Amino acid sequence: MTMTRQVEAPAILLAALERGESLPARWYTDPSITEREITLVFRKSWNYIGSLSQLSAIGDYVTGYAGGVPVVVLRNERGLAGFINVCRHRRHEVMKGRGNAKAMQCGYHAWTYDLAGGLKRVPRSAAEPNFRLEDFPLLPIRAETLGPFVFVNLDAEAPTVQACYGPVLDLIARSGVVLDTLEPYSREEWRSHANWKTMLENYLECYHCAVAHPGFNAAIDVRPDVYTLEAHGYFSSQSGQVRAAALQGKSKIKLYDVAGTVAESQYHFLWPNMTININPGFPNLSVDIWSPDGPNATKGISEQYFGPGVDKDFAEELVAFNKQVATEDDTLTDSVQRGLLGGLPDRGRFLTNSEHLVIHFQKMIVNAVGGA
Ligand SMILES: [Fe+2]
Repeated sequence: MTMTRQVEAPAILLAALERGESLPARWYTDPSITEREITLVFRKSWNYIGSLSQLSAIGDYVTGYAGGVPVVVLRNERGLAGFINVCRHRRHEVMKGRGNAKAMQCGYHAWTYDLAGGLKRVPRSAAEPNFRLEDFPLLPIRAETLGPFVFVNLDAEAPTVQACYGPVLDLIARSGVVLDTLEPYSREEWRSHANWKTMLENYLECYHCAVAHPGFNAAIDVRPDVYTLEAHGYFSSQSGQVRAAALQGKSKIKLYDVAGTVAESQYHFLWPNMTININPGFPNLSVDIWSPDGPNATKGISEQYFGPGVDKDFAEELVAFNKQVATEDDTLTDSVQRGLLGGLPDRGRFLTNSEHLVIHFQKMIVNAVGGA
């Protein structure tokens, strides 16, 4: 069978999505699409970089990547500041990991920048003709906060973090989780074998929950009349109530202790690749970041936070609960990716009442990336 590549205009793709027809399979396997996503999505959007708890003192810094670009955010005397974390000399990364520093010194030739990004010391530069330190500061980028979450954006024209995601703070407050009191518990990096959109589109519906997540389904009422899914532009939110049987300890499946001040579960997606999870029980919140690693793999970061005074057993059991759900999801999305790699069928068909957040996400992708 020969397959001719058909380039489709955004209007045609958007109209198909409106009817419940998915993006073509190639959008999940073609390296040129991933490259356009990096340029047109990730380098124009807010990228989560860390939490304020890691940036409380002057000199505290965190590093990360925004659309593949090394970035650093630090606290200096004027507040938070973001920079491209690449030396103006030979483009070695300046800072590593996270910590506290008096200055930013590149580990290659010891070019040294102050906490405002100004280049202050360059060994041997006194003997270099036409060389002025002030011509080579670190390149500044935008760094903004949403509650305790710190983001960077490489696009000077992008709307503010507050304009994109502000109302999600009110929804989180409704859960009983008090963001300002959360304490970091764990942070890990992971890699999966599916396109980043394959993974997020799985996150954006709970139609599969009753089928594929027995433990989650025992804890949360996932029936469509009580489980809500709402798109809000740059973010979308899902919410479910804890099941009465789980609260009474009558679940057939062994669960973590779901009884606590948080009775509602919330699953928020912040465009383009951050998700925030709150589960019933003692105050808890986890953050996941899903970044493309080529078309057929995703590299991720998972952070877990708890309210103050969390019980050790509860923390371990909730983390295990979240891992169980993630493992079940990985099995699903790995299988979907193999289906997409085959290229047939070219289109999927959504159920528009249960999967409208996925459709909303794919529309945002088309609007950012254009036709293909
Ligand atoms: Fe799932």
